[in-house]
Amino acid sequence: MRQTHRRIAQFLALGAMVALVGCGLAAPLPGVESLSPVTAQKRDARSPKGPFLWGVSTAGYQWEGSENKSQWAAWDAAGKTEERRGMAADGYRRYAEDLDLTKGLGCNAFRTSIEWSRLEPVEGQFDPEAIRHYRELLLAMRARGLTPVVTLMHFVYPAWLDAHGGWQSPQAAQYFNRFVERVVKEYGDLADWYLTFNEPTVFIAGGYLSGNLPPGKVNDAKGAALVTKNLVSAHNKAYETIHAGDKTAYVSFNNYSASWTLKSDPQGAPEDEFLRQVLGQTEGLPKLDYMAIDYYTRLKLRLPFQLPMCWEWPVYPEGFYNSLRFYHRLTGLPILVAENGMATEDLKERADGWTREAYLTAHVEQLQRAMKDGIPVLGYIHWSITDNYEWGSYRPRFGLFSVECRTGDLRRVPTAAAETYRRVIAAGGVTRESLAGVRYPGSYRPIVKP
Ligand code: BGC
Repeated sequence: MRQTHRRIAQFLALGAMVALVGCGLAAPLPGVESLSPVTAQKRDARSPKGPFLWGVSTAGYQWEGSENKSQWAAWDAAGKTEERRGMAADGYRRYAEDLDLTKGLGCNAFRTSIEWSRLEPVEGQFDPEAIRHYRELLLAMRARGLTPVVTLMHFVYPAWLDAHGGWQSPQAAQYFNRFVERVVKEYGDLADWYLTFNEPTVFIAGGYLSGNLPPGKVNDAKGAALVTKNLVSAHNKAYETIHAGDKTAYVSFNNYSASWTLKSDPQGAPEDEFLRQVLGQTEGLPKLDYMAIDYYTRLKLRLPFQLPMCWEWPVYPEGFYNSLRFYHRLTGLPILVAENGMATEDLKERADGWTREAYLTAHVEQLQRAMKDGIPVLGYIHWSITDNYEWGSYRPRFGLFSVECRTGDLRRVPTAAAETYRRVIAAGGVTRESLAGVRYPGSYRPIVKP
């Protein structure tokens, strides 16, 4: 499977899941109206506090490099990827440099994952060196005034879990919980913000319906339904475990959000089974302290479904506003933007004329508009601090700092967007001054005029 096509297949599958075109899931997905909204009031005790988070995001497998005990490393070694990962951006060793760069942008938050496959490379055996490493990483963030936002599973888990059936195993939630317990014990004093699962719908659709992500199952609707159930149960368990061990924790998961143009609510986001189950629990309150979303583009749901390469994803900043509003209305919770960013193909200019700096300001101004309209937004975390391994390929570049991961020349070279982001953060948002050097494509009508 050519990984640069992964999104096509993923969203083919996700589209199929949403539209229920012959995929045989138990029941039609309900409209959002049937989801039980959470009242912000009820969550007050665990409501996140503190300043607006301006951050950058990355993920262990994509950034750190060189780990070989995960299911993703096995998938890569089996030749299922377009390019081998190798050292990625060598973030495991160069984290201090990337944290310095992040601080230099004026950020106060850094998001990455603590890799389960490093902490527990062999079932039941935790690796003291990996435990020490992540403690140093979190300490290094705090030393620079960066609030850690910790993802517990960013598509990657230890390969040994696959010997038990992977996420289809009835024990999967328990195994995950043992890892979570360890994370909270080791790092509860250093981390408050947790995301249990990165984009579970993408993980499920890619792994069990389109089959272009590990474990590579195609049209396995039963598998997808079971994994959904197990991930929901693992999320809920992890929520309790984290709060039991860390009284100041805020827990969520980050949902893939797009501006869909064909659905019951054309301004909203797709119904999805994972979120429906988390919100619709019958026992107790939904286990979310805030809602986290990732927003990149507008998707057209039509059959046959086709998604462009990620450097051709349509730029649609208004859709970001719609997503913020949609998820806030749906959950009643404040929203954290855990990812937002734009790709180029290698370092080429985009055909549509969008630059990363224009993308960034166009989206931040929509976020400001949402906040002005009363939508509580906790922070904006840009994807990504550096170029990294885009799930099988190095062609897509999302970095504020570019890195030649393929050649091993791992120097961090600032893109123009790094300076723009620094100005935006310094101004507390997009202002005329922070737009210096930003050129919008002719068709875009910005709120703040350059
Ligand atoms: C994922 C990242 C990925 C990014 C760009 C998100 O869906 O969480 O891992 O690199 O999108 O495709």
